[in-house]
Amino acid sequence: MVIKKQNDIPSSEITDEKLYFNRRNFLKTAAVAAAGATAYTLFSKKNSSAFAQDNNSWKPANPSKFDTTETLTPYKDVTTYNNFYEFGVDKSDPSENAWRLTTTPWTVEVDGNVKKPAIYHLEDFVKPYKLEDRIYRMRCVEGWSMVIPWLGFPLSDIIKRAEPTAAAKFVAFQTLYRPNEMMGQQNNVLQWPYVEGLRMDEAMNPLTILAVGLYGKTLPKQDGAPLRLVVPWKYGFKGIKSIVKISFVGNQPPTSWNRYAPNEYGFYSNVNPNVDHPRWSQARERRIGEFFKRPTLMFNGYGDQVASMYSGMDLRKYF
Ligand code: MTE
Repeated sequence: MVIKKQNDIPSSEITDEKLYFNRRNFLKTAAVAAAGATAYTLFSKKNSSAFAQDNNSWKPANPSKFDTTETLTPYKDVTTYNNFYEFGVDKSDPSENAWRLTTTPWTVEVDGNVKKPAIYHLEDFVKPYKLEDRIYRMRCVEGWSMVIPWLGFPLSDIIKRAEPTAAAKFVAFQTLYRPNEMMGQQNNVLQWPYVEGLRMDEAMNPLTILAVGLYGKTLPKQDGAPLRLVVPWKYGFKGIKSIVKISFVGNQPPTSWNRYAPNEYGFYSNVNPNVDHPRWSQARERRIGEFFKRPTLMFNGYGDQVASMYSGMDLRKYF
């Protein structure tokens, strides 16, 4: 690997500034295409063979203590009923259009208030970490929900490696901007690129992961390949897809849906059945595949792990 060889750079990822800028220049010139020729082999055979199209027989190869035992949403629904406005605004648009996205080579830039800024090839970004199947309830702000077996690793792994300074209070994320492949970016339905953010303690919470797969397989493009955020106690739009940049910042960063409609979509966006969306109730949800609606749970049922982060905050004001 030209930019960072797995064998000759330790996973502690010490990157002095000179090397960093050399890497940047290198990236800007010819290196990306050459490096991308290296196979991206994240997944073991064991993982792939554990996969089944009808989720009934699928079992996690790498279960985690955070997994819910609820019935999984079928793979077909997880991969054909999507929100990914870069590929269109209808639920079926992402699965129809996302094939246009080139995901190799892929780089992720880590910058801001950190001791170790760097630009990684995806493979090097992910390789040091143990992937787990994280079976999470997911609740969309539009009132539907799914149970999705993500494959990923804690965001805190990345944060520890970057070594944020005391000035880092929030983490900002950015999606790829490439309008010739993401045709949705050719119109102004949202301000591009899509951006999201978390407070540092939210980013460090063990439930917060970066996903590179689902159902034990590589992440489909419509679900945010090759790398997306998953924050199960927040509405789904916090789960920014196809991430190319992670920045450690001092102030609360802008978020795409808050920019679009600040009175409808707050920065925190914790699942809260007691705070209605201005145009609809959030008290109930429809689990995809079920007929009757079910009550929505505070923090999407993850209160034990996350409620303490918000003690003393008025969650109606900080919605
Ligand atoms: N990320 C980007 N870059 N663009 C988007 O339009 N949509 C968000 C979120 N991440 C979106 C995004 C919304 S509104 C939801 S509900 C989830 O992705 C949907 O994720 P899924 O399609 O994998 O279920």
